[in-house]
Amino acid sequence: MDLSRPRWSLWRRVFLMASLLACGICQASGQIFITQTLGIKGYRTVVALDKVPEDVQEYSWYWGANDSAGNMIISHKPPSAQQPGPMYTGRERVNREGSLLIRPTALNDTGNYTVRVVAGNETQRATGWLEVLELGSNLGISVNASSLVENMDSVAADCHTNVTNITWYVNDVPTSSSDRMTISPDGKTLVILRVSRYDRTIQCMIESFPEIFQRSERISLTVAYGPDYVLLRSNPDDFNGIVTAEIGSQVEMECICYSFLDLKYHWIHNGSLLNFSDAKMNLSSLAWEQMGRYRCTVENPVTQLIMYMDVRIQAPHECPLPSGILPVVHRDFSISGSMVMFLIMLTVLGGVYICGVLIHALINHYSIRTNRAP
Ligand SMILES: *[C@@H]1O[C@H](CO)[C@@H](O)[C@H](O)[C@H]1NC(C)=O
Ligand SMILES: *[C@@H]1O[C@H](CO)[C@@H](O)[C@H](O)[C@H]1NC(C)=O
Ligand SMILES: *[C@@H]1O[C@H](CO)[C@@H](O)[C@H](O)[C@H]1NC(C)=O
Ligand SMILES: *[C@@H]1O[C@H](CO)[C@@H](O)[C@H](O)[C@H]1NC(C)=O
Ligand SMILES: *[C@@H]1O[C@H](CO)[C@@H](O)[C@H](O)[C@H]1NC(C)=O
Ligand SMILES: *[C@@H]1O[C@H](CO)[C@@H](O)[C@H](O)[C@H]1NC(C)=O
Repeated sequence: MDLSRPRWSLWRRVFLMASLLACGICQASGQIFITQTLGIKGYRTVVALDKVPEDVQEYSWYWGANDSAGNMIISHKPPSAQQPGPMYTGRERVNREGSLLIRPTALNDTGNYTVRVVAGNETQRATGWLEVLELGSNLGISVNASSLVENMDSVAADCHTNVTNITWYVNDVPTSSSDRMTISPDGKTLVILRVSRYDRTIQCMIESFPEIFQRSERISLTVAYGPDYVLLRSNPDDFNGIVTAEIGSQVEMECICYSFLDLKYHWIHNGSLLNFSDAKMNLSSLAWEQMGRYRCTVENPVTQLIMYMDVRIQAPHECPLPSGILPVVHRDFSISGSMVMFLIMLTVLGGVYICGVLIHALINHYSIRTNRAP
């Protein structure tokens, strides 16, 4: 159970409940009363006071149903210090509103409490019942896998409880069944289908006692994703995939992508795999043989997604691309492509011509034979 965070929300709820219950036992206005209250073993309990008059001279709290001196726990004359009584155990304190605070609360703190309030010439008394409850053992949760691949893996989480009223939280948001999430009919199992990178934590919560909630540990999911894209940034900047650089100058290239879990980088230069696996490549003094096409390939071994990006380094006096818009990667292909088109056209035209000649010859031949047949 996560004790640090829910404490405040737990106590807000206890207060809320106490005040709701208190309405049922509201007394005539002007008369103080103790709002019936709940305590949780090990936590702080507030035995709260309501309808407190102004200018109180003294608050005194007693164990039991009356204000006999031998039962006094503590008394407080604002603004001076607090006076412990015979029933003081070292855990009690009176707050500014006159309520009794007990921390930590024990199970045997359950019982009647009486308060005496002196204000002006008047002395008022009230008695109330404190019920101290014990939360069950820690609420358990488990998942069948915590290292997952985005859009591929599903995860099932189990809440270890016999309580049926279970609330599931994904990323701290209460969750109900949806296209992607299924909660079993008994509420104990949550299945997230095809997890996303945004599914970060799973937690379950039960209502141990009315209005008292117990949360499980927050389980973190590790969801591998990407790369979503890859960019190749260079210095000097590229223009349409071309970096223009002088021999002897420095060229830096960096492969940038967005992904989770370690990526593998590969660099290919003019078709040959380089023995280099960093995201950044630095050519400190550009040589002739370092000109040409570079491809950076990023691979996420977990998601098995691979992406790449190309850039071409060329000397300033090299002719610009014929089309200007196409990255250089496509240049070789587009040239050979047009060659192929030309050859195909040539072949087709040649074929059509030969076919025409053949058909002509055949027609001639047959018409001659038919003419001669009779
Ligand atoms: C006060 O309550 C105690 C028990 O809590 C009891 O023994 C005692 O007699 C009561 N005193 C008076 C004056 O009612
Ligand atoms: C209440 O319980 C605590 C242990 O939780 C014990 O030390 C204490 O003596 C008990 N007090 C009474 C009045 O029984
Ligand atoms: C608590 O006080 C009420 C009266 O205010 C009394 O009826 C009840 O018996 C008391 N309970 C105990 C355990 O002293
Ligand atoms: C307190 O009582 C005295 C006399 O008994 C009276 O003079 C005074 O006004 C009273 N004060 C208040 C605040 O009621
Ligand atoms: C976890 O449970 C879900 C739903 O039952 C299932 O689809 C998934 O394959 C399970 N994962 C593992 C690692 O068993
Ligand atoms: C649920 O109930 C069964 C038997 O009724 C018990 O053995 C088991 O320990 C309980 N589990 C929890 C988490 O309370």
